Amino acid sequence: MAPLFLGFAIIFISLLVTYQLYQKLRFKLPPGPRPWPIVGNLYDIKPVRFRCFAEWAQTYGPIMSVWFGSILNVVVSNSELAKQVLKEKDQQLADRHRSRSAAKFSRDGTDLIWADYGPHYVKVRKVCTLELFTPKRIEALRPIREDEVTAMVESIFKDCTKPENNGKSLVVKNYLSAVAFNNITRLAFGKRFVNSEGVMDKQGVEFKAIVANGLKLGASLAMAEHIPWLRWMFPLEEEAFAKHGARRDLLTRAIMEEHTVARQKSGGAKQHFVDALLTLQDKYDLSDDTVIGLLWDMITAGMDTTAISVEWAMAELIKNPRVQQKAQEEMDRVIGFERVIAETDFSSLPYLQCIAKEALRLHPPTPLMLPHKASANVKVGGYDIPKGSNVHVNVWAVGRDPAVWKEASEFRPERFMEEDIDMKGHDFRLLPFGAGRRVCPGAQLGINLVTSMLAHLLHHFVWSPSEGVKAEEIDMAENPGLVTYMKTPVQAVAIPRLPPHLYKRVAVDM
Ligand code: HEM
Repeated sequence: MAPLFLGFAIIFISLLVTYQLYQKLRFKLPPGPRPWPIVGNLYDIKPVRFRCFAEWAQTYGPIMSVWFGSILNVVVSNSELAKQVLKEKDQQLADRHRSRSAAKFSRDGTDLIWADYGPHYVKVRKVCTLELFTPKRIEALRPIREDEVTAMVESIFKDCTKPENNGKSLVVKNYLSAVAFNNITRLAFGKRFVNSEGVMDKQGVEFKAIVANGLKLGASLAMAEHIPWLRWMFPLEEEAFAKHGARRDLLTRAIMEEHTVARQKSGGAKQHFVDALLTLQDKYDLSDDTVIGLLWDMITAGMDTTAISVEWAMAELIKNPRVQQKAQEEMDRVIGFERVIAETDFSSLPYLQCIAKEALRLHPPTPLMLPHKASANVKVGGYDIPKGSNVHVNVWAVGRDPAVWKEASEFRPERFMEEDIDMKGHDFRLLPFGAGRRVCPGAQLGINLVTSMLAHLLHHFVWSPSEGVKAEEIDMAENPGLVTYMKTPVQAVAIPRLPPHLYKRVAVDM
């Protein structure tokens, strides 16, 4: 038995090495670290991938081959190459690599995030552009955002004014995550699962359990994903995935049913995504799986990203009291001390907008975006990218490239006052939302919420480091992962700066 297995293993390895050699000879692949047989560069990649890739780019250049097992991943790290990937060769590089878990979660790409670029993708993307993310709907959903940011302010105020908390620091992320969670569940499902006392209802508990279980299932497969012929050793837990899918469907269908009943009663549709999708289901010929997939896409893509962006921005503002003060001066001048900020004020608060942009430049929450996959053989930067390879744009490295940014690692929002640079996919120096066909459809919504959270946090409170911690000691390291939270959640002391009656939640029922 053992010699037979050994024989098979040798044949497999030889085939693989021959295949890699053939690829090398047939194509002019980008340079990169030497891959090991079978595992490629997997064991050389450090946990915070985008930093590791940026380091390697110093040696191998701005376009690099990195082997995840037997799968070629091309990483580009400057704005010129980002433009080639996301604009010039956009169409051939707009598919997605679906791991087995992503394939299961997305029912083989019947959603948006995991769909390959093709007729289905074009259709659901159209639903996003023409229906879900129109300026009109974003505006109609504004009261939800304002409710949630004012609830955040109220909750911070309560906590920081408790006598026993005097001078104590708060974990900023806790408040931000609550806004992101409530905003996205209300926007997608029309549901605030948490009541004003902070108690979560039964559906909310189930929702959270599903999200947590999804993360667990997704993580359980990581290594075998990259070595397709080894997968038989790591079989997919079919049953666990099926159970997860059924649980997700059950909750979502119950919510869909509630909305259908409410619509029939009232005769009109609400603005939430679930209502929009149900009323448009026939017009766009959307299957139930696609409706459910789209709703969960919005949750997955729109929740953590906003909270992460604000957490990093706050860490920078706590480290840089000069910038914080300047933003507060702007708000005091434009808004004063007798009312709270509204989204309609943003256009009169340019420095505030620059802060949001500068935070997204230095700390894009998805530093490698989502990987794209080549649907054909493509040339980028003079090198071949064979069909089936993945392509990553290191937008973190692009945003810090000293060749295009002055004092690249400084948090200096003024740079955007000096030169107005677009961040929604038109300027390839700044790509927190990606660019091209797959650019984030929620970019404007994300910007509105991030700016609103920052505006309220800065207008209502002065923020300083925890007692005994110097600004320069704040840990700015990243947690590994597709989305990049701070490794050490930032803590800070909040001191109210407006009259107490301005710290009340403005609750809306929608
Ligand atoms: C600060 C907040 C956000 C950032 C930085 C961000 C960033 C990104 C990035 C980099 C991508 C990948 C683009 C690519 O593959 O080329 C993406 C995709 C996506 N984002 Fe966002 N996003 C944010 C907020 C949101 C919000 C609020 C929503 C929805 C409510 C959303 C929905 C999506 C969806 C559905 C996709 C997949 C698009 C596709 O595959 O075609 N995002 N986002």
